[in-house]
Amino acid sequence: MKYKVAMLPGDGIGKDVMEAAQIVLNAIELDAEYIYGDVGWEFWKKEGNPLPDRTIELLKETDCCLFGAITSKPKKEAQEELPAYLKGKVEYFSPIVKLRQLFDLYANVRPCKAYKGNPLNYRDDIDIVIFRENTQGLYAGVEFYPLPDEVRKALQIHPNMKKFSDVPSDEIAVSLRIFTRNGCHRIVKKAFEYAKEYGRKSVTVVEKPNVIRETSGMMIEEARKIAKSYPNIEYGEANIDAMAMWLIKNPQNYDVLVTSNMFGDIISDLSAQLVGGLGFACSGNIGEKYAVFEPTHGSAPKYAGKYVVNPTAMILSVKMMLDWLGEKKLAEKLESGIARTIEEGKVKTYDMGGNSSTLEMAEEFIKNMD
Ligand code: NAI
Ligand code: MG
Repeated sequence: MKYKVAMLPGDGIGKDVMEAAQIVLNAIELDAEYIYGDVGWEFWKKEGNPLPDRTIELLKETDCCLFGAITSKPKKEAQEELPAYLKGKVEYFSPIVKLRQLFDLYANVRPCKAYKGNPLNYRDDIDIVIFRENTQGLYAGVEFYPLPDEVRKALQIHPNMKKFSDVPSDEIAVSLRIFTRNGCHRIVKKAFEYAKEYGRKSVTVVEKPNVIRETSGMMIEEARKIAKSYPNIEYGEANIDAMAMWLIKNPQNYDVLVTSNMFGDIISDLSAQLVGGLGFACSGNIGEKYAVFEPTHGSAPKYAGKYVVNPTAMILSVKMMLDWLGEKKLAEKLESGIARTIEEGKVKTYDMGGNSSTLEMAEEFIKNMD
């Protein structure tokens, strides 16, 4: 076999949409071996680890991974569901966040494309791809509460800390927004390379350098340097707050967007809703050597195992995987089936106003492929 693909269905509807993905992959005859692995709440409850070491080993032996969705719960509930011998001994962590860190999957890529005929489209001419930095920024996980004395002392060298000097340590919390030059460079570079490869018109960097001068400033600085080597791609800059308005006002004007972790999290959800919402929101977590593709929805427990949710987000993630593997013909073929199915509107899941099942929709994609 040419490829080895790790399949991690996870919990709830993750399993339903993964089954749809497997049916589609079999139909297009990708030359691959599919190896299923354990991830999610089920394994937290059984083993006190939602991402067992054997799963990490499995990923290391594969070319890339398809991820379904997982359930997660707040700290207290998580502990309550553990067997007695594990209670208080282990802490829950997010498997997908861990995978991003472990495999340095620094680019979170979120295409938001309006497929013609989708009743959920905000407009029919939207085709945006968001590149979100996936490992740093405000989600780097460097946070303090209560504020340790050493940290407070270090921060005090900044004059603007003065106004907080009377606040007791247990009345103040700090979350750090950390950017590295390399982190800025590689995400912007990835966005431009993508734009070049797929003939995109423009790349817009979305930050807030007038206020968050150091971190956003560094991103803009790197972006301007990189933009110079792509004279055929229009380069733009926008502030994150203004972008939230413009994405509602004229989303058709935007092409490739690139931004930091939290801003990307927010505008990618906003943009996904413009083209159909969670049932359509696909994503790739992409590094230099490995990638994990996943729909952005969660495990939707109330629909688990009912096979009623929309598999499009998952199948579009499969399409992204095919592109990443270099199987462009297969990716196009699969997309043609998705596009035709949506345009015809005969087979629709509940979110689109229909009552077709998850697997009927997947079968229809196959039937409609070029
Ligand atoms: P969710 O995304 O699971 O579902 C929210 C609602 O969106 C659903 O009730 C359903 O109405 C709709 N929906 C989601 N996917 C759909 C699809 N494919 N087709 C049609 N409708 C769809 O978010 P929720 O309810 O906040 O979280 C449920 C669980 O999932 C939680 O345990 C949460 O922590 C986890 N979660 C996991 C994620 C992941 O695995 N990447 C992401 C988000 C949440
Ligand atoms: Mg999000």
